[in-house]
Amino acid sequence: MISSPLMTVMVDAVRKASKGLRRDYGEIENLQVSRKGPGDFVSAADRKAEETLRDALTKARPGYGMVLEESGVVEGTDRSHVWHVDPLDGTSNFLHGIPHFAISVGLEREGQVVAGVIYDPVKDELFVAERGKGAYLNNRRLRVSGRVDMADALTAYGTPYLGRGNHPRLLREVAAVMAVSGGTRRMGSAALDLAYVACGRLDLYWERDLQTWDIAAGIILVREAGGFVTSADGASEPLAAKSVACGNEGLHRELVAILRKVNG
Ligand code: IPD
Ligand code: CA
Ligand code: CA
Ligand code: CA
Repeated sequence: MISSPLMTVMVDAVRKASKGLRRDYGEIENLQVSRKGPGDFVSAADRKAEETLRDALTKARPGYGMVLEESGVVEGTDRSHVWHVDPLDGTSNFLHGIPHFAISVGLEREGQVVAGVIYDPVKDELFVAERGKGAYLNNRRLRVSGRVDMADALTAYGTPYLGRGNHPRLLREVAAVMAVSGGTRRMGSAALDLAYVACGRLDLYWERDLQTWDIAAGIILVREAGGFVTSADGASEPLAAKSVACGNEGLHRELVAILRKVNG
């Protein structure tokens, strides 16, 4: 585990918010739900968890800015620190009773993610990472998978909601990856996809059309676990590009090459 004042702040905030999520998951049918677009829902559980996180993080670090999925941008007096907060990543899974969702909180300092916490309240799995201090799942130090053969690699990807993103391009990419990799998954939580790459459960993951709150925490987790994370085209910083391709060094290189080839 990482013991630092910053990690204590982040873990306390996330654990506090997770209590409400766990309770609400037990009574999904009573939750107030609204729709942002086709298939894109937000519930009272998302909003309550976000409020808890916002209160706790503001109290602990009053000047930091925030980018929150449900309430937008909060400017801070400290221009160099920004929290990226996803109170419930995997809302579709949550609302369909699929136990695969998480809270994700990342801290950006001058353009770089320096700390991240992702918590899966159903499995009680806490993923944490801080720059230079490693990545952990509960108390276990994490390392990305050591797999070298793409033919054995388990690869996750993400699909945009109806009416968003470039579906034909994604289908071409998925077809190309399926043709050469050991297996593909669409799990439904970008934060957990990144966390699963960090702990070696998944060998690779890529997705476009994301937001900073989906990926900030996961980026530092993968890096501190010895993995590579870039934008999906392999050319830039994922947080700025809002897309990711990640895995160990060799498989990441191969994945980016496949995606580039598909896209000419
Ligand atoms: C979504 C999940 C999903 C990803 C979507 C995200 P949300 O986040 O991470 O896996 O494919 O792009 O929007 O809305 O459940 O927080
Ligand atoms: Ca959402
Ligand atoms: Ca999300
Ligand atoms: Ca969310």
